[in-house]
Amino acid sequence: MKKIIVTGCNGQLGRAVNLELGKTGEYELVNTDVFEGEGITPLDITNVDSVVALAREVKPYAIINCAAYTAVDAQESDVDLAYKINAIGPRNLSIAATDTDAKLVHISTDYVFAGDGNKPYTEFDKTGPVSKYGITKLAGEQFVEKFAKNYFTIRTAWLYGDGKNFVKTMLGLSEKYDEVSVVCDQLGTPTSTYELARAIHFLLETENYGLFHGTCEGDTNWADFTEEIFRLAGKNTKVNHVTSAEYSAKNPQAAPRPAYSILENYMLKLTSDFMFADWHDAIERYLKELVG
Ligand SMILES: NC(=O)c1ccc[n+]([C@@H]2O[C@H](COP(=O)([O-])OP(=O)(O)OC[C@H]3O[C@@H](n4cnc5c(N)ncnc54)[C@H](OP(=O)(O)O)[C@@H]3O)[C@@H](O)[C@H]2O)c1
Repeated sequence: MKKIIVTGCNGQLGRAVNLELGKTGEYELVNTDVFEGEGITPLDITNVDSVVALAREVKPYAIINCAAYTAVDAQESDVDLAYKINAIGPRNLSIAATDTDAKLVHISTDYVFAGDGNKPYTEFDKTGPVSKYGITKLAGEQFVEKFAKNYFTIRTAWLYGDGKNFVKTMLGLSEKYDEVSVVCDQLGTPTSTYELARAIHFLLETENYGLFHGTCEGDTNWADFTEEIFRLAGKNTKVNHVTSAEYSAKNPQAAPRPAYSILENYMLKLTSDFMFADWHDAIERYLKELVG
């Protein structure tokens, strides 16, 4: 069995990776997270000695980095921790992967782009993050490129899965209110962690290394996405479409959001026949499981 170290195993993506790889019977997963738990080996990815020591003990086929600091607004005033988890963490995992000759899968974000584009960003487009989250995640990508030998860095966006996410927040609000206000001028692609885990599984068994965009197909805005969530979940809650300026006037947000963050999975399309599901199909499957 191929051994795989999964970091941040208790997060949304970590859980999806467990489901995807667990069902094959081909992998022995060493699940790690910053806090101890049942079946979880404690591992703080910001500590290089711990990371290298665990890799030397396990001798993994691959390390899959699902750990990150994802609270976007908190990082505007907590930048040291953001650099530690989002940049130094992947640097440490890259050093450990190279040291043990393991493959590394690292996850990054659409927030590495400025969001002022008007056509889907490919892996060849210039980055220009506008938030501390985006800046520190870009630094993480650069460390991986520098210190890892055999790596897949996958930029994804608007993730939802088993954990706290936008879809669940909206369903929660629909229980309390008859109408909700949601921004309609930020474009992107909602992406299921289960689709991303399928892409990770696919790449893991290749030597097709490098930087990839990995989001569901198609695009939308948060307000239209919310309408689709409510339609599929049978909710009558009205969605008021508001601009980002109108929304943040009432609900101040510390971190700026990219207005345009549609990614094209260009490298996957150029180098493989792997396809992500369309976002409509992925959210329908997700909600069927969540609300029946
Ligand atoms: N969520 C999105 O919309 C989105 C969008 C684009 C890209 N991404 C990227 O996708 C990846 C997966 O995101 P996700 O939504 O699954 O994240 P998540 O649910 O927030 O999970 C992250 C996990 O990492 C753990 N962690 C935090 N600090 C750690 C440390 N120092 N050492 C080890 N583990 C640590 C967290 O533990 P605690 O919860 O205890 O802190 C949590 O279990 C991340 O790289 C993220 O940047 C996410």
